[in-house]
Amino acid sequence: MIELKDLNKSFRTAAGRVDAVSDVNLRIDDGDIFGIIGFSGAGKSTLVRCINLLERPTSGQVIIDGVDLCALNRKRLRAERRSIGMIFQQFNLLSQRTVEANVRYPLEIAGVPKAEAAERAAELLDMVDLTEKARAYPAQLSGGQKQRVAIARALATNPRIILCDEATSALDPITTRSILDLLKRLNEQLGVTIVVITHEMKVVEQICDRVAVMAEGRIVEQGNVRDVFLKPQSETAKRLIDPGQSELSVYNTPNTLRLAFTGEESGDPVISDMTVKCDVMVSILAANTENIGGKTFGQMLIQLPEDPAAQQRIKAYLDGRNIFYETAESALPNPASAPSADDTAQAERARLSAQARIEGEAL
Ligand SMILES: Nc1ncnc2c1ncn2[C@@H]1O[C@H](COP(=O)(O)OP(=O)(O)OP(=O)(O)O)[C@@H](O)[C@H]1O
Ligand SMILES: [Mg+2]
Repeated sequence: MIELKDLNKSFRTAAGRVDAVSDVNLRIDDGDIFGIIGFSGAGKSTLVRCINLLERPTSGQVIIDGVDLCALNRKRLRAERRSIGMIFQQFNLLSQRTVEANVRYPLEIAGVPKAEAAERAAELLDMVDLTEKARAYPAQLSGGQKQRVAIARALATNPRIILCDEATSALDPITTRSILDLLKRLNEQLGVTIVVITHEMKVVEQICDRVAVMAEGRIVEQGNVRDVFLKPQSETAKRLIDPGQSELSVYNTPNTLRLAFTGEESGDPVISDMTVKCDVMVSILAANTENIGGKTFGQMLIQLPEDPAAQQRIKAYLDGRNIFYETAESALPNPASAPSADDTAQAERARLSAQARIEGEAL
């Protein structure tokens, strides 16, 4: 179990103090796939890097299976870190080494005898379906294949926990799906706890059991993915699941409904069935739905007809099919709280510099 208690992390910069993580309390149970979601600059990377102490918290505790990592000496911390694997957005593979040698690398550092390390590397490459690329170099691989190598490498020392910082955001949607499926499979087969950092609700929907939403260094909401997805409480969560993204403010009228599909609805396609049964026309203003394993997940924003009786029929229909909906007004974020371009640019610069530091430290 991972427990973060009253965790704070501040940075001193020329421009003053930056509170990247503030008063975070979080519990992640063994075997969970836990999502941490938020916009750029929210503090997600800093928080996840505190879990393996790549970033030392300014105050608070990081307790893993009852052990407070901050209280350990260097040697014990190194040993503990072996039980925490990490994968990154940019894969961070060693370009001069083959795929097999990349996977073997953490085992070499841990002093595992050569023959045993080679055997383990072969087993890991098989697990991520890359046996035929063992002798290839990273430059010869696709993004998805590189991330598979990174996953195999993260698993080399049999970690109990894997931290994934935006592990799929450099990948196209289909490759993203395959990497998330792989993580899910590893979670099920090996029982490894996975912490997934992302800014995409889709990633959370696809594999996470629980999710925490971060904004300005704080956890502003947490719970089961389904609850947060259906009834987001915080402005940030509402914006993150907003299917129309920024255009949505245009649609902020009382005649707009947000529908949420959680894969539990069955039967005929909702919109076409509804237009026939309710004898109404509705326009789909924005949709972000996906078919996963024959079930529909996602959000849709529809424009209702003006006629109150027709609106009632639609709501009764949705109630009858047990489909979650709410008026867009209540679902909409307050535009004033959207991050400014300046904030975004600053966070991007910070992310890039953080990334560069990670490369040095994590390998
Ligand atoms: N080493 C650092 N020195 C100074 N400030 C930092 C450092 N690392 C992060 N920050 C600041 O901390 C805040 C959180 O950054 P962090 O990288 O954790 O955000 P994030 O949620 O991971 O963003 P992104 O989605 O862009 O990766 C930002 O304001 C950032 O500028
Ligand atoms: Mg980040």
